[in-house]
Amino acid sequence: MNSSDYAAIIEQSLFDFLPSKDCNEKRLIEAMQYSLEAGGKRVRPRLVLEFNELCSGKTESALPFACAVEMIHTYSLIHDDLPCMDDDDLRRGKPANHKVFGEDIALLAGDALLTLAFETITCDNTVSLSGADSCCKAAAVLARYAGANGMVGGQVIDLISENTNAPVEILQEMDYKKTACLIKAACELGCICAGADDVKIKAASQYGECIGIAFQIQDDILDVISSDEELGKPVGSDKENSKSTYVSLLGIDECKKIVQSLTNEAVNALKVFDADSSSLKNMAYQLANRSN
Ligand code: IPE
Ligand code: IPE
Ligand code: MG
Ligand code: MG
Ligand code: MG
Repeated sequence: MNSSDYAAIIEQSLFDFLPSKDCNEKRLIEAMQYSLEAGGKRVRPRLVLEFNELCSGKTESALPFACAVEMIHTYSLIHDDLPCMDDDDLRRGKPANHKVFGEDIALLAGDALLTLAFETITCDNTVSLSGADSCCKAAAVLARYAGANGMVGGQVIDLISENTNAPVEILQEMDYKKTACLIKAACELGCICAGADDVKIKAASQYGECIGIAFQIQDDILDVISSDEELGKPVGSDKENSKSTYVSLLGIDECKKIVQSLTNEAVNALKVFDADSSSLKNMAYQLANRSN
């Protein structure tokens, strides 16, 4: 499957998991749908499906796990754009959620996407496809990587590092938590859903950690060298918010080298798999060289 095939099945499935709009809180569901809709690269759900396929799992069983990760990612973007955080007005090529629905509904749409993610991976239908053990394990992994010592924790380190010259150790922890953790969760979930052993889960986790940190460094590079049109979000946001990033500390050239070296490390981790992992290898290189 190529990336647009993946995007198409993920988008259909995300839509299927959304609650009906036939209720008094219709505006909330519209806000959730607005941010989930096309425009995102769908990197994290694709990783779930790729690792699931690599471990001989069925795509149908992995789709709820893939959608759950994308729901959490989308919630993190809605909150990340709020005036109290990065205060950005453009996301996925459209006005940010709070610009359309207001800060109150945007905040609540984020909350509702977070809880919908856990409903999606623990509902009866998902349990009947993947078994209670896999669903429970996946929920625990997702909660840990998305929570206080994962993505949310990383966002806090990002905020408290504004207007400081944070050292490389802090930047590493920040990028690991705010971005790599959810990407790592996606890779692990793909394996868990397929019933893979711990050796494979560990290798997927290592791959996710490396491409995840590289992903944030590339995001910081693009914030400097790209355009709003190409990215679908405002460039120059990091400078405007006096963010501490790898780019502000080390400069673009050094950052490009780090991205390449982390990508090589990620590809190396795939050696554990007997099946053909060339798709994940190519994905790592594509992400390292992406322009949006
Ligand atoms: C943006 O993630 C936020 C970061 C973690 C850097 P993506 O670049 O994956 O955003 P979408 O999903 O394609 O919009
Ligand atoms: C956000 O990092 C990471 C998240 C957990 C959402 P950024 O603030 O750099 O992401 P963008 O550039 O706004 O997408
Ligand atoms: Mg941010
Ligand atoms: Mg931001
Ligand atoms: Mg950014």
